[in-house]
Amino acid sequence: MNTLLQDAQAAGASVGLTAERVTVHGGRPLKGRIELKGAKNLVTKAMVASLLGETPSELRSVPEISDVRVVKGLLEVHGVKVTSVGDDTLLLDPSAVESAHFEVIDAYAGSSRIPILFCGPLLHRLGEAFIPDLGGCRIGDRPIDFHLEGLRRFGAVVDKQPQGIRLTAPNGLKGAKIELPYPSVGATEQVLLTAVRAEGITELRGAAIEPEIMDLINILQKMGAIISVDTDRVIRIEGVDRLEGYSHTALFDRNEAASWASAALATEGDIFVGGARQAELGTFLNVYRKVGGAFDIHEDGIRFYHPGGKLKPAIIETDVHPGFMTDWQQPLVVALTKAEGVSIVHETVYEQRFGFTDALVDMGAQIQLHRECLGGAECRFGRRNFQHSAVIVGPTKLRAADVVVPDLRGGFSHFIAALSAEGTSTISNIGIIARGYENFIAKLDALGADFVIES
Ligand code: EPU
Repeated sequence: MNTLLQDAQAAGASVGLTAERVTVHGGRPLKGRIELKGAKNLVTKAMVASLLGETPSELRSVPEISDVRVVKGLLEVHGVKVTSVGDDTLLLDPSAVESAHFEVIDAYAGSSRIPILFCGPLLHRLGEAFIPDLGGCRIGDRPIDFHLEGLRRFGAVVDKQPQGIRLTAPNGLKGAKIELPYPSVGATEQVLLTAVRAEGITELRGAAIEPEIMDLINILQKMGAIISVDTDRVIRIEGVDRLEGYSHTALFDRNEAASWASAALATEGDIFVGGARQAELGTFLNVYRKVGGAFDIHEDGIRFYHPGGKLKPAIIETDVHPGFMTDWQQPLVVALTKAEGVSIVHETVYEQRFGFTDALVDMGAQIQLHRECLGGAECRFGRRNFQHSAVIVGPTKLRAADVVVPDLRGGFSHFIAALSAEGTSTISNIGIIARGYENFIAKLDALGADFVIES
């Protein structure tokens, strides 16, 4: 095996979670303070954006998670010099961008979906790009049709090959009118990263407007891009000839904030989440309060706690921003197993994001999955064969179980379920959690969780 491939395997290895299994002794509330860094779902895209600059970029508040390592590896195989400065700053120098062999890209990309976002920047820089078959959490089909259709509109030629997809732009990339069938986060980012250097004006309709996308737009504007966000999910981009590097502190990870908030509720604990901000968490905070959780907003973070008394059930429908994020659903379901009454969660973003509930049922939770759209309007998955509505009947005292982590947020849920359960659980395949939660084990430790890592 060549050195690049060996490096690639190392890059794909988990960060801070070298063990495969943890024994958790439940019943102790999580209490204490943890600090957030930049959002996984922004930082990785910001790193890709550095490819578009003629000069180096500086990105601060970068978490040490394996998705960041994967993107770092992918940038490096394409000739970007990535240097760490201090604890959480990356310098990204794209002055020597080059093509990479598909085998090496594939080895680095392994567990991530980020390679798809390299398309636009690489087409601008090199006139070609290669995208291997994509990974990511197994929470649905996760197709890339919107991405490819968007790239075709810019003039890219998409050639599907056995190992992946090769893209070329024989006549350069030109601004386009694009309408997304669904406000996909990734496809919106794809259009932004491609349009900023395409010739002419791009109009994107049906865009996603998540705070992470707004922060990516901030970064691109710092680089010299001209982007306006209109009402009704319309984004207009005027292509420019040249972009510079940026200097930016990444938006905090609001999905991690919501995860720890749910952990506080499920374990009857009290967690101060340093770096969390109200503005990007408004929808979550409303639901948290309705369920019976309490929070205090401070300048430097938010304290989330169980104020005592009974938790109340909720009817929740996940949605694109400004709705209730799909990534918040899984940890909150654990708290809903402890609420008094019937809760309904209708998942409208991913068709298969309830796989994690099997383990909760093994732990004694009363959760039934349904194919119908319950508790809200009919969604894209309504007349199809997907169990995308969950009915949760509580309160349940969860009991210990042996659990295998299925995906990032589901894995977090399993941990808080085990921490809130009576008895000793084992949790395996925990490496997945390092994809998106920095220093997860150290944070659990700081919050007083009772667990033993098996090496
Ligand atoms: N979709 C298509 N075709 C496409 C693209 C998307 O049908 O070409 C569908 C998807 O199958 C899904 C829906 O559109 O049903 C939304 O997908 P989206 O493209 O918005 O998701 P993504 O960009 O792949 C990001 C986050 C996810 C987060 C979603 C929704 C990253 C790396 N991932 O995924 O984060 O759940 O947006 O906000 O930014 C996580 O952090 O655990 C996670 C899964």
